[in-house]
Amino acid sequence: MSTISNLENGQELLYRLERSINPSLSPIMKAIIDLSNQDKLPLYLVGGPLRDLLLGRPIVDIDLVTEGNSHELANAVANKITCRMIPYPRFKTVTLYKDTARLDLATSRVEHYKASGSLPTVFLSNISQDLMRRDFTINSMALGISKINQATLIDPTDGLADLHQKLIRAQHSNSFTDDATRILRAIRYEQRLSFTIESQTLNWMLEAQSNDIFSTITPDRLRKEIGIIFREEQPLKVFKRVAKLQTLEAIFKPLSKSNWMESESLDKQLDPLVWVGILAYALNLDEAHEFILRLNMPNKWSKVVLDTIKLKSAISVLAKTSLSVLQLCELFDKIHRSSLKAVSLINPDSQVKSHIGQYLEHYRNVKPLLNGKDLIKLGIPEGPLVGKLLNKIKLARLNGKITTKTEEKKIATSWLSKMLT
Ligand code: CTP
Repeated sequence: MSTISNLENGQELLYRLERSINPSLSPIMKAIIDLSNQDKLPLYLVGGPLRDLLLGRPIVDIDLVTEGNSHELANAVANKITCRMIPYPRFKTVTLYKDTARLDLATSRVEHYKASGSLPTVFLSNISQDLMRRDFTINSMALGISKINQATLIDPTDGLADLHQKLIRAQHSNSFTDDATRILRAIRYEQRLSFTIESQTLNWMLEAQSNDIFSTITPDRLRKEIGIIFREEQPLKVFKRVAKLQTLEAIFKPLSKSNWMESESLDKQLDPLVWVGILAYALNLDEAHEFILRLNMPNKWSKVVLDTIKLKSAISVLAKTSLSVLQLCELFDKIHRSSLKAVSLINPDSQVKSHIGQYLEHYRNVKPLLNGKDLIKLGIPEGPLVGKLLNKIKLARLNGKITTKTEEKKIATSWLSKMLT
């Protein structure tokens, strides 16, 4: 792996950028650079991708800043190259997508926060001012990539020194009151990069969160930020730190009861919805409803939260008894798969794990050979009865009573005739 020092040379950084960029983005990037050169406009690589380039980490998305007009530039690019473009005029930014790759292009700007947690008002600025409004020094560098300032590293807050010292440092004392999501961002970078949050920065963070700063963040922004943790390489590591700093309870008090942190089985990447179930595991039903509101959860998330609580209330049954296939299906069929997964990962009881494991592996995906339309053709009236009967057929299958389509039809018709008598 490259060390930071051999990459500090701007030209070397540009070579590395060329080699690391997602090939789908290369033509877009080339077009933006060409157009910037034509107009003699400064263009910079900024933020996360530059930080990762300096650290020798893979680059995912690209963040560029122009001192010209980002929308005009993006429009000119979209006229040359087929790509999807989403403009955000309020923030003077535009996102270009090609296949699954993404490039953000912004006009250099400063932001003014009218109140804590509010979205900022945006004013045009030069690149240095733009960098000095950002969250952490390691994210506040820029590398010139158009001719006018090619290969110049702009680092007004000594971010490079902090990269060397592996420090997450905020730029000023209001950083977290301006935007409380930065508290979670600091912890995320600290754990992802194995850095340390610089002591003054940590004090600012803790002070802000003790002043209930998370209440200034809208549910949607908070949910988005938590969702980003789910997709980290080691979410458990991040959540352990979030819990240790009492940030979890500053976000939503009942989460302080989260007692799953020591569970080694969570030390891996999991589907984000499984993490939703894991977070909900400590809550009672009232708290779960409050949590759903606090994060303005979409339907899928709230189903996982509520199903996890439902499943938890059945733990004593699951732990003690040896259950039949039919009982397992009755208990689990309507429960979201992610809740089942979350509970089986957290609950230490081997019987609980084995019941859920067996069900997910052998029974969950068993489907009748007949479908709803087949049943309607056989004369079953459209509506909830169809679903009920499909379930009955599935259970007969699981019990080994029937195996063929003809046998399924037999069950359906005998059921129908019983209904009619
Ligand atoms: N930024 C900020 N304050 C925030 C969010 C973002 O100052 N609350 C700035 C940072 O300079 C960051 C840049 O905007 O580098 C882009 O944001 P984002 O894409 O979220 O961050 P990345 O650094 O690209 O992080 P990641 O590697 O997690 O994608």
